[in-house]
Amino acid sequence: MFFLRLLRYFYIFFKRHFFIFVSGNSDFSKMKLNSIYKEISLDNSYLNEEFENKFSKLIGSGKSLTYAAARMGLYHLLKELGIGKNDEVILLGSTCSVMPNAIIRTGATPIYSDVDKETFGSSLSGIKNCISKNTKVIIAQHSYGIPCEIDKIKDFLKDKNIFLVEDCALTVGSKIKNKNVGTFGDAAIFSFDHTKPINLFMGGVLYTENVQLFEKLKNSWKKIENIPVYRQKKIWKEFIFENKFFRNNIAAKGFFISKLRSFFRKIFFIKSPFLDDDFGTSYISDYPYPARMPSFLCSIGLEEIKNFKEFSEAKKVFLKNFIKLIKESSIEDILPKSYLNDRLDIIPSRICFQINNGSDFRKRLRFLIDVDSTWFLEPIIVRNEPLKNFLYNAGSCKNSEEIGPKMINIPVSNSKHINELLLKKLKKFLFLLN
Ligand SMILES: Cc1ncc(COP(=O)(O)O)c(C=O)c1O
Repeated sequence: MFFLRLLRYFYIFFKRHFFIFVSGNSDFSKMKLNSIYKEISLDNSYLNEEFENKFSKLIGSGKSLTYAAARMGLYHLLKELGIGKNDEVILLGSTCSVMPNAIIRTGATPIYSDVDKETFGSSLSGIKNCISKNTKVIIAQHSYGIPCEIDKIKDFLKDKNIFLVEDCALTVGSKIKNKNVGTFGDAAIFSFDHTKPINLFMGGVLYTENVQLFEKLKNSWKKIENIPVYRQKKIWKEFIFENKFFRNNIAAKGFFISKLRSFFRKIFFIKSPFLDDDFGTSYISDYPYPARMPSFLCSIGLEEIKNFKEFSEAKKVFLKNFIKLIKESSIEDILPKSYLNDRLDIIPSRICFQINNGSDFRKRLRFLIDVDSTWFLEPIIVRNEPLKNFLYNAGSCKNSEEIGPKMINIPVSNSKHINELLLKKLKKFLFLLN
């Protein structure tokens, strides 16, 4: 198995075009990179503030705080809300392990709500099924760039004393009837991990339009530690590697080198720059938890925000052309209905759909697309412990468990040219879906 995979990686190395799920980021001049490198330090939080202000303006009238990862923003919020033992926090049963980890760290219990088959995100009915007298917080997730039923969920909670958090890790800038996701709930989290809509390699934001809550959070945020400098330098090196290799026609080489690097890290017990101690249910990380977002990443973020509109436009055009192609091939039944809902303005972070022979189709696609990185093949992904350790009961999210194996993810690039190329190559595979 291992050698077959190794052989596949070798084969991919020689491919001219291979499409991966790392979102890509802006081009940086050498001079700009040199000036960003100099910002690696412990005390230049003015850059965090500048980034927080600019990011907030992308979303709405609220304010933001920056963290080394979105999960840490959630954890900080839960602590500030006094969430702990005997409290229940509802989240989607199609999530990343770091989310239940953040909840479990507070002493509260994660309760998993089922997935909406049309948006792959949270649904009102799924959430209603999970509410109990102990429910203190609900996390409603927008998946793949598609807004979930957040307007209905907000309406339902109007007269209830339950705090609503939007998980916008996978969705930035998408709208329901012209209102941005992230502005419906009492607060929202955003992630800047390298597979997310804004790729800063890592980082996250907690956003809220509640002024009092923001002031309270800001006060305690000031006491939050920074990632140590030696570790920031490791993150920098990885960012530079990905910025150079995870693009256009050298992505296949980048993919191969990156697999090789993680293989050597494993056999020589070298710590990766990723914040991967939170993939289980442990409370112990070898970095501060929660931690601030390193300021140099905020500098990179300021550049990405400048390009956000252009990158989002490229993604929207890809979705439009993909839908057109699917319709022309008379297979539009495979599309989730949300793609055809004109109340929604979708900026896709991936294009997703489910088909019965998902695993066969992924096998066919694997020399074109890094299908091993398909999201939510299972209810909790990127985990190093069994599902039951996260207090997930098998069978509790039927849709999620049913959809998972059928899931197809198509990468969406910031670049129009790459998207056109992928669409052309995908045409050859569509007959398999008939
Ligand atoms: C749906 C979802 N929410 C939240 C997160 C957490 O983001 P971060 O890695 O920045 O903590 C992830 C991470 O992959 C995610 O997939």
